Amino acid sequence: MFNSPLPQDSGPQAGGGQTAFYARSNKVPLPLIEKASGIYFWDSEGNRYIDVSSGPVVSNIGHGNSTVAERMAEQAKTMEYAFPRLARNHPNIEYSGRLAELAGPGFERVHLTSGGSEAMENAIKFLRQYAIATGKSSKTRIITCEPSYHGATIATLAMNGEILMQPFLDGFAEPSVKVPAPLNYRTPAGYDAAGYALHCAKCLDSTIQKLGKENVLAFVIEPIGGLSTGCVVPPGEYFSHIREICTRHDVHLVFDEILCGMGRTGRFLAAHHWPEAMPDIITLAKGLASGYSPLGAVLAPAVMVDKLADLSGFEFQYSYNANPVSCAAGLAVLEEYENRDLVNRADSSGKKILAGLKRLKTSISIIGDIRGMGMLLAVELVADPKTKQSFPNEFCLTDKIRIYGLNHGLMIYSRQTSGGKYGHWFLVSPPLTISDEEIDELLEGLGSALSELQANCLESGRR
Ligand SMILES: Cc1ncc(COP(=O)(O)O)c(C=O)c1O
Repeated sequence: MFNSPLPQDSGPQAGGGQTAFYARSNKVPLPLIEKASGIYFWDSEGNRYIDVSSGPVVSNIGHGNSTVAERMAEQAKTMEYAFPRLARNHPNIEYSGRLAELAGPGFERVHLTSGGSEAMENAIKFLRQYAIATGKSSKTRIITCEPSYHGATIATLAMNGEILMQPFLDGFAEPSVKVPAPLNYRTPAGYDAAGYALHCAKCLDSTIQKLGKENVLAFVIEPIGGLSTGCVVPPGEYFSHIREICTRHDVHLVFDEILCGMGRTGRFLAAHHWPEAMPDIITLAKGLASGYSPLGAVLAPAVMVDKLADLSGFEFQYSYNANPVSCAAGLAVLEEYENRDLVNRADSSGKKILAGLKRLKTSISIIGDIRGMGMLLAVELVADPKTKQSFPNEFCLTDKIRIYGLNHGLMIYSRQTSGGKYGHWFLVSPPLTISDEEIDELLEGLGSALSELQANCLESGRR
């Protein structure tokens, strides 16, 4: 269907890699990446690609960082593993201390996991165990947003606001209760962004009252959207409202910062943008070890963790929690952040990228919206910018964005949620280390790829 010069992984081979599990109907080539450095990938054919989205917003410090690799190797040679139920280890103690310092007051305790979904699961398990230990065992219900993404374990799939998962979950896992996400481009008729955000906050309030506050454990939200909403940034007042509502109803407020944390938005935590509305718990992953090792974290207040430790303790454990090599990777990544001032660069370089994307919008009419914060940006493409009408599903827009990107040396992560109900977008979230010259190169490539895609859209529309 698509004309692409790139090789498609095909032959039946023992193992087959991850690709063997994907639908055979996938039409977008998956280049075989053999080398990576800075913002670039090279495939087996010698083609070079810019990592436009840091994968799924993982590779924050860029690829091929030998300092991090060496620190991991040193740790692996010195002491690669000690099971945290049986022994303590220095990298764990040092790393959790460093993260708590950066997170600031209210997040004095750090529980480490092997990734985002696991961090989300453990955050919920911690809150559930805390509720039971403090005599509030009727608190079982979780509220999340529609749309949203919190992971791919069975419990986190049930938390996601993704309509297409319904048949998978039916009779299998209990879905969380959903309230509308404070979207600000596709607001329903009669609402502006601020008015709709207020409406969404009121929905949270009425939903808690309907369920009975004694039954509601937590409200979990991505404070700045990622893959599920395309980097939606709610108005600041929304956070004051949800904080007040959760406090009034004795419901824990959880920020899923797995994607938007770790400096992406120009502050170490997205929560730091709204200090008057701090959540009770924050989850992190992805940029924590920036792709060098699997790592996730649950940040929690000492008052809760220490109280639970006195009562029952948090007893859930995975073999790879607080793995010393992952902690060494995390520590080395934080040093890179500090040495290269990456949180501030997310802000300054993000502004340059945003300005460049806005320039592209003046000549590319299929760009409907550009949104996000710092270096977490998304571009939503539409068939008609006046009506915000999306492209029909048959047009396979998210696939086409990726293909046109690859043809112009860009590895792009394009997404839609709930079968395109909320539109189609791609992320512009390169490694935070990107230089000014590389930003120009990225924008030039995007301009060419989108111009060609637009021509294809017009051509298809004519037929
Ligand atoms: C907001 C958010 N939460 C949770 C997850 C799950 O993280 P992981 O893929 O590391 O399990 C993701 C992954 O994309 C995410 O974007």
